[in-house]
Amino acid sequence: MQIMINEIRRWMKEAGKNIKESLKSEEMKVSTKTDRKDLVTNIDKQTQAYLIEQIIAFDPDAKILGEESGKDKLQDLSGRVFIIDPIDGTMNFVLEHENFCIMIGVYEDGQGVLGFVYDVMREKFLWGGRDIGVYLNEERVKAPTDLSLDQGLLGINASMYRLNSSNAQKMGERAMGVRMSGCAGLELIAMALGTRVGYVSNLAPWDYAAGGVLIEALGMKMSNINGESLKIDGREWFMAGTPTAYDEMLRLSKQA
Ligand code: IPD
Ligand code: CA
Ligand code: CA
Repeated sequence: MQIMINEIRRWMKEAGKNIKESLKSEEMKVSTKTDRKDLVTNIDKQTQAYLIEQIIAFDPDAKILGEESGKDKLQDLSGRVFIIDPIDGTMNFVLEHENFCIMIGVYEDGQGVLGFVYDVMREKFLWGGRDIGVYLNEERVKAPTDLSLDQGLLGINASMYRLNSSNAQKMGERAMGVRMSGCAGLELIAMALGTRVGYVSNLAPWDYAAGGVLIEALGMKMSNINGESLKIDGREWFMAGTPTAYDEMLRLSKQA
């Protein structure tokens, strides 16, 4: 386990270094996927290709689920699965050159075992798992206080808030304020560090796999918007929170 942790951290640091370099030197090639706001760049693709190469060299039997380049479907979750988002927050990456992260989640037979979320520009690397605890760079992260929804900030996906999906506006009203970072990984890092009481969004497995392992290891709850287990297959309405905030969010989503 320790060898795998060290290796994954090494690959992600290297990928982060390459991303920073390419921001300085390379012209970014941006293309669209499903619509004009769904972006992918040559750097997303290069980063995923690099991470996949490392994973295959390290564990040729493992399965890989990644956002880009045709690795976005799995037959099943048996065995070891690496779930990769090479750049989470691509829109921020393209337009802000910050507020994005690299993420890898490791699952064994459908259970999240390890999570790694690297905020490249701030050099904040959050990693860990249920059995080993959670670390920010080299420092152990303490479980955040179980604040209620009205005691903290709530991360919300912008269109979900605008359309009031699942009563998102009520959730926002209850909270001290809402935040929309455009990066699921950063929202989950913020939850792990106690600066958000919850997060609601519409997410694919690579958006929540890594951060989800970390927040659950810290005693927080996550599920689909109806309180059911996430399927790790396709996009779903996603909800996470401190135990108290989560229960309140679930109650509000059921009133929608
Ligand atoms: C997106 C971001 C965003 C979330 C979207 C994701 P991407 O990931 O995490 O915050 O609202 O649903 O698709 O496409 O930038 O990797
Ligand atoms: Ca993503
Ligand atoms: Ca991505």
